[in-house]
Amino acid sequence: MMKRQFIITDDGSHTLFVPELNETYHSTRGAMQESLHVFLQAGFRCAISYLAKQPIRVLEVGFGTGLNALLTWQEAEYSGVSVYYEAVEKYPLDEKEAAALNYPEQGKLVRLHGCQWETPIALSPCFTLCKRNVDLLEYVPMGYFEVIYFDAFAPDVQPELWSKDVFHKLYEALNPGGILVTYSAKGMVKTVLRDIGFEVQRLAGAAGKRHMIRAVKR
Ligand SMILES: C[S@@+](CC[C@H](N)C(=O)[O-])C[C@H]1O[C@@H](n2cnc3c(N)ncnc32)[C@H](O)[C@@H]1O
Repeated sequence: MMKRQFIITDDGSHTLFVPELNETYHSTRGAMQESLHVFLQAGFRCAISYLAKQPIRVLEVGFGTGLNALLTWQEAEYSGVSVYYEAVEKYPLDEKEAAALNYPEQGKLVRLHGCQWETPIALSPCFTLCKRNVDLLEYVPMGYFEVIYFDAFAPDVQPELWSKDVFHKLYEALNPGGILVTYSAKGMVKTVLRDIGFEVQRLAGAAGKRHMIRAVKR
C-alpha cells in the first residue's frame, strides 16, 4: 500500500501525491478540470453524442479518488443516459481518505467508495457501479465497453501498464466504435495504440498539457 498526501491543485480541487512514485493522481494544474476535459468531454460526452445504445458501458483503469466516476454519475443524471461503470483499482483509498476529498456531492462520493467490490451495485436508476480490486495486469474484462478511461500513473512511472499486451486486452474489450481516452499523448503510446488497430486522434490537452489521446476502435 502506497503512502499518499493531499494536495490542492490550481482549480481548488484535491489530488493525491504519492511520494514513493513522485507522482500525483491528477494534473496539479487542476484535478477537476483535467477529469472534465479528458474523461467527461473527450470520452463520455463524445460517446453519447453518437451512440444510441444504452446503457453506455464505461471501464475505468484506476478508480483512485472516484472523481471520474462521480462526474460520470452526475452527467448520467443530467443527460438521462444510463451507465454501467466498471472500475479497476489495485490500491483503494481508505474511508478516511475518501471522506476528506473536497469534491462536490460528498454524499455521492461516499457512496461510490462505500460500495462493495466485485459486484454491480445500482447507485441510482441510471448509474450502476462495479469496482474490481485487482491489478490491471490480472484483470479479465467481462463483457464489452463503449468507453475506456485510461487513467493509470504516467508511462514513465508504470511502463508495464502502458504495454502492447494491456492495450490489446482493452481493445478486445471495446465494442466497434468504442473509444479509449487518456491524458497522455506520448509518442510511444500513440505508436502502440496504432499498432494494435486503433485510429488515434490527438486532441488539445487539459490545462498544462498540449495534447491528449482519443483512440477509436473502427
Ligand atoms: C493517475 S491515478 C488516477 C486515479 C483516478 N482515476 C482518479 O481520478 O483519482 C492512477 C490510479 O491507478 C491505480 N493503480 C496503480 N497501479 C495499478 C495496477 N497495477 N492495477 C490497477 N490499478 C492501479 C492507482 O492506485 C491510482 O488509483
